[in-house]
Amino acid sequence: MNSKNNFLNKTWSFILVAAGAGARLGGESKQFRFLNDKQVWRYSFDIAQSLLLKGFIDEIVVVFPRSVDITTSNFKFKDKRIKFIYGGDTRSESVKNGLSLSVSTNVLIHDAARPFLTEKLCLDLINIANKTGASIPILKATDSIKMLHDDNSLLPLDRNLIFLTQTPQLFIRDKLLSIICDNKDSYTDEATIWINHGEPIAYSNGEETNFKITTQLDWERAVYMTQKNRIIRTGHGFDVHQLVEGRDLILAGIKINEFDRGLLGHSDADIIIHAIMDALLGAAGEPDIGTLFPSSDIKYKNISSVVLIKEIIELLTKKGWHVEWIDVTLVAQIPKLGNLIPKFIGNLNKLFSDTIEKRHVNLKVKSGEKCGSVGRCESMECYAVATISK
Ligand code: CTP
Ligand code: MG
Repeated sequence: MNSKNNFLNKTWSFILVAAGAGARLGGESKQFRFLNDKQVWRYSFDIAQSLLLKGFIDEIVVVFPRSVDITTSNFKFKDKRIKFIYGGDTRSESVKNGLSLSVSTNVLIHDAARPFLTEKLCLDLINIANKTGASIPILKATDSIKMLHDDNSLLPLDRNLIFLTQTPQLFIRDKLLSIICDNKDSYTDEATIWINHGEPIAYSNGEETNFKITTQLDWERAVYMTQKNRIIRTGHGFDVHQLVEGRDLILAGIKINEFDRGLLGHSDADIIIHAIMDALLGAAGEPDIGTLFPSSDIKYKNISSVVLIKEIIELLTKKGWHVEWIDVTLVAQIPKLGNLIPKFIGNLNKLFSDTIEKRHVNLKVKSGEKCGSVGRCESMECYAVATISK
C-alpha cells in the first residue's frame, strides 16, 4: 500500500502505453528505438520505477505490442508490482487492457513515446488528482490558432483559450474503465472521453520537454536532448617490448604457436593489450599502466594482461565511461601475423561486448619495413587510440 496516499484510501497505478505502431515516424517502432543506450519506453519506465520505490505509486503496468514476447526473462521483474500485458490495435484497447490488469483505485496513463517525463510532473498531478479525482498536464499554444469550417473558411481563435494536452493523465480507474467500455468512438487521449462524459478534470502546467515523439523532427530533438550533455574523450597508448628467445609470444590474449621468440616483460608482455590499456586510461584521465600495475610489484610477475585490462574496464565502468571504439596498430617484422587479425579483433572485442554484432575494436599489423629495432627483429611496437563517452 502507498503510505503517502494511504490516508486518502487511494492507490496509484502507472500505466505505460507502448503498443502503438509508430506509423507517422515510420521505420523501427519509436518506443523500442535506442536513445543513447536505453530504449525510448525505458525512460518513462525508469521514472515510474523510481516513484514506485519511493512509495508514491503502487504498481506499474506496461502495455506492449504482440510483436514483443513479454514472457521472456527480460520482462520478469522480482518486484511483482511491475506487470506487462499486450495492447490492441487501437489506443483505447491498449488502455483498456492496462486498466483491466491494474488493481489500484487510481491510474496515471502515460505515452511511452514521451521519454522525458519528470517525477515532479507526476507528483504535481498526483497531488491535484488526490483532491479532484482526475488531472492532466496542459501547455499554452504558442502559434496563432485558426479553426477550419466546413466551407473551407478559417475562423481565428484566441490562442489564450487553447491548450495542448500531454500525459500522464490521471483518473479514477473504475470510472475510466467503464467510460472506455461504453464509448464506441475513437479518441486520441483519455481526457477527451472523460470530459465528453461530463466528468470534472483539473490541470497543471505541462513541461515543454515532455513532448511526444511523433515525427522525424521530434526524433531528432530527442536524440539531441540525450546527447547534448554527452562527454566524448580520446586517449592514445603506446608500448614497445624486446623480442627475445625463450619467451612465449602473447598477443591480444592469444598465445602464438610455432614461433621461437616472445616479448620480454614483467607481465606476459602482451603489447597489444598494454597499448589499449594506456589509451583507455589516457582517455579517462587516469594514470598509466606503469603507475597502476608497477613492475616492481611481484604480484604482476608473468600476469596475464587480460586480467589487467578487465580491472581497467571495471574502473572505467564504475566512473560511468562507455568504450565506443579502439583502433590499434601493431608493428612487427616477424612473425607474419596478418592471418590472425580477425582472431585478435574477435578476442579483444569480447572484452567490451557480449555480441559480435556490436564491434568496438579494429586492429592493423604493419611490418617494420626493415627499419630500426623492429625492422631488425629485435622488438615490436604497438599504438592504440581509444574513444570513450559518458
Ligand atoms: N499506443 C498504444 N496502443 C495503440 C496505439 C498507441 O499503446 N494501439 C501508444 C503508443 O505506443 C504511444 C502512445 O500510445 O506510446 C501515443 O500514441 P501515438 O503517438 O499515436 O503512437 P503510435 O500510435 O505508436 O504512432 P502513430 O499514431 O504514428 O502510428
Ligand atoms: Mg497513434
